[in-house]
Amino acid sequence: MKKLFIAPIFEALLDHAASNPVGFHVPGHHGGQALKQDTWVEQMENSPFEYFYKIMQLDVTELSSTDDLHHPEASIMQAQQLAAATFGAEETFFLVGGSTSGNIALLLALCEPDDVIIVQRNVHKSIISGLKLAGAKAVFLSPQIEPQTGLATIPTVKQVEDALAAYPEAKAVFLSNPNYYGMGVKLAAYVDAVHRYDKPILIDEAHGAHYGLHASFPRSAISEGADAVVQSAHKTLPTLTMGAMLHIQGNRISRDTLRQSLAMLQSSSPSFPILASIDISRAMIDALGAGLFEQSLHSAASFRDWLQLQNTVICEMKTEAARREGLLLDPLRVVLCDRSGVRTGYELQKHLEQNGIFAEMADPCYVVLVFGIQTSMHDTQRLQQAIGAINGEVKEHSINTRKSVYMNETMLITNSEPVSFNRAGFKNKTSLRIQLSAAEHHISAEMVTPYPPGIAILYPGERITPAMVTHIQKLSAMGAKFQGAVDPTMATISIFEQ
Ligand SMILES: Cc1ncc(COP(=O)(O)O)c(C=O)c1O
Repeated sequence: MKKLFIAPIFEALLDHAASNPVGFHVPGHHGGQALKQDTWVEQMENSPFEYFYKIMQLDVTELSSTDDLHHPEASIMQAQQLAAATFGAEETFFLVGGSTSGNIALLLALCEPDDVIIVQRNVHKSIISGLKLAGAKAVFLSPQIEPQTGLATIPTVKQVEDALAAYPEAKAVFLSNPNYYGMGVKLAAYVDAVHRYDKPILIDEAHGAHYGLHASFPRSAISEGADAVVQSAHKTLPTLTMGAMLHIQGNRISRDTLRQSLAMLQSSSPSFPILASIDISRAMIDALGAGLFEQSLHSAASFRDWLQLQNTVICEMKTEAARREGLLLDPLRVVLCDRSGVRTGYELQKHLEQNGIFAEMADPCYVVLVFGIQTSMHDTQRLQQAIGAINGEVKEHSINTRKSVYMNETMLITNSEPVSFNRAGFKNKTSLRIQLSAAEHHISAEMVTPYPPGIAILYPGERITPAMVTHIQKLSAMGAKFQGAVDPTMATISIFEQ
């Protein structure tokens, strides 16, 4: 049979399964054998168990015929080298704990307790976890807000430069691009700015594993010169959930230290099916090139054309202004909203689910749809039917207008002082609750996250500025919800006694 592609990990697993092995090793299902209990073996065929039996045949441990993720010498080493070549990195590490493990590993590799690092404020919680585990201090940079949609993107290059000038001791700059809504920027100017200070720039590109692989997609962060890039392969490539990659180039990050932090964070028994699925994704890209994405691009484009012709209350997020502002949009993400302002994003998501359509994410305003490789015209038609079933009067005033009011307020807060995530520093501190109006210049003992937009204004340990007090008061008056706050009205706030 003609080989479809070269995928060393996948092939090693197939070869091992084909050798009729008798295993006296973990995992306990022993190639799925454990499922085949005498009492139900006859019912097993075509039963749900059959799925697991097949997967389990490929779920092995570190054997001489497979390899060891933490000391790769055979199929994993080859697969990672092939991935590095495909994604344009010098070295690629396969991750079995999602981008979460890559983000944390980078922070642990770069920061000792109390080291300063410059971090975009609207980051995924894994970066906050990494800051806590490293005990680092973060200088937070507020994101820019795209005015038409009210969505947070990335801080400006100037903010990054200002932070680097103010904190020359910073170990690195950590940014996130694109955002969940598929909005991003060209990163070259950020890379130049950070490299002028001879610091590494790390990019959480969890949502852009497909970037750079088709002329319609924005360029990838690694091709723009970032030192380290984390990608959730499982989000946009044909990879099993938790499969991700960490790409590295240049010599600003110690690869040995990074290897050590990955070894601390990732299981000593990583899943071979997950590793093989990253390998298969890379192999498909090599074998099919940009053609891998043609079907999904075609489906997304035809859905957009259809939506434009409809006179339905559901429309795509407005993107002209975003494009004018130089934002680059992922053509495989379609962000919908109810332009009558009647349905929230959550309600719209619920409606779609009732019609068998499951979206990636919803927020108070939007629903995010991710078009996958091989999303067919049939799938697209089902989506169209579900949207066609939503009725309502089209009015041109939009919920976006309301949302952007919340968002524009966020712009008041720019670069923070270093915020300590060193748990030792919090140990013997007592907190007390005071009026927010009297909290200026105190250190917050709680995280304050208004929703929308869901971006933390204050982290525990962060100094409360007068602008923040005014900002929180304004948001509260507008009816914003504060997630997890002890006092949801935010009339009071918890501070550390000084
Ligand atoms: C921006 C961003 N970074 C990192 C992650 C974590 O990715 P993973 O689920 O692969 O661990 C997510 C998850 O949604 C994310 O949105």
